Amino acid sequence: MEELLEKLDSYRKEIIDTQLTGAEAAETYRIRFLGTKGIVKNLFQEMKNVPADRKKEFGQILNEFKQLAESKYEQVKETVGGSASPDSSTDWTLPGDPIAVGTRHPISLVRNRIVQIFGRLGFAVAEGPEIEDDWHNFTALNLPEDHPARDMQDTFYIHKNPDWLLRTHTSSVQARVLETQKPPIRIICPGRVYRNETISARAHCFFHQCEGLYVDENVSFADLKQTLYFFVQEMFGKTVKIRFRPSYFPFTEPSAEMDITCLICGGTGCTVCKQSGWVEILGSGMVHPKMLENFGIDSEQYTGFAFGMGVERICQLKYRINDLRLYSQNDVRFLKQFVSAL
Ligand code: PHE
Repeated sequence: MEELLEKLDSYRKEIIDTQLTGAEAAETYRIRFLGTKGIVKNLFQEMKNVPADRKKEFGQILNEFKQLAESKYEQVKETVGGSASPDSSTDWTLPGDPIAVGTRHPISLVRNRIVQIFGRLGFAVAEGPEIEDDWHNFTALNLPEDHPARDMQDTFYIHKNPDWLLRTHTSSVQARVLETQKPPIRIICPGRVYRNETISARAHCFFHQCEGLYVDENVSFADLKQTLYFFVQEMFGKTVKIRFRPSYFPFTEPSAEMDITCLICGGTGCTVCKQSGWVEILGSGMVHPKMLENFGIDSEQYTGFAFGMGVERICQLKYRINDLRLYSQNDVRFLKQFVSAL
């Protein structure tokens, strides 16, 4: 007991004499006296060795000692900072280090914008698998086996099962939706498609399309035109003109391809529009009655229109991108240019 009191005396002196001049000295002090293995804790553990009749007296002395040790630290904590606080040399008003934030891929930006524009007209997003079967990609769309139009789309077939293929267009999603939903149907299907083409600045073995389908009573070609005109004006601005050219797709009748005035040259002629002043952006038409009947929809009661556009083409015109390969080369110098959302 006497020994303990002597120890306490010398610690008291040490506390009084210690100069807590900076954050480091304060921290060393805190650990030595107040830490979980510090002197104060240890002294309290000595209580058990103190004779019962002196416990009360020793307890008081210890409590006072603890207060002394703590108050010394409390005095400087505010100014030099405690263990969790910064030292005073930190300038908290300095600007932070910038964190590099990634950017969205241009294809995603354009896809999202397309979905947004059609969303305002009540079109919901529908999706389907990229590995399709022959039925959904061709036969259901009025392209029976041996139909010459199958050759237009250089298809990748899956070796294991020749009935499987990589979808050549997002029209396969039309088939899936008609299979499961009843009119009125108003959907937009964005997605990746595959064709066995030699990769160049103008062609790639995979690209993106966005299909639209609207089936209801009294849907006319005028609705198709107005819907696409609205889309073009929202996407490219009010000054852009559209024109329709008759075309052929097995699943639409009549069919038309739609061009817009070339945004690269403004219509005066350049290499992108092949000097014509117009660029094709989509295929479209009135849903073929046979296609509706394929899915048990009464083609006397219902009519519909469909269209399919290439997302890369829209992106090319929007951002003036002259080489399709740039989209998939992952060159950050290209990718980081698309910081703003459309
Ligand atoms: N699926 C056609 C293509 O890939 C585009 C299209 C879609 C045409 C819908 C008409 C209607 O070229």
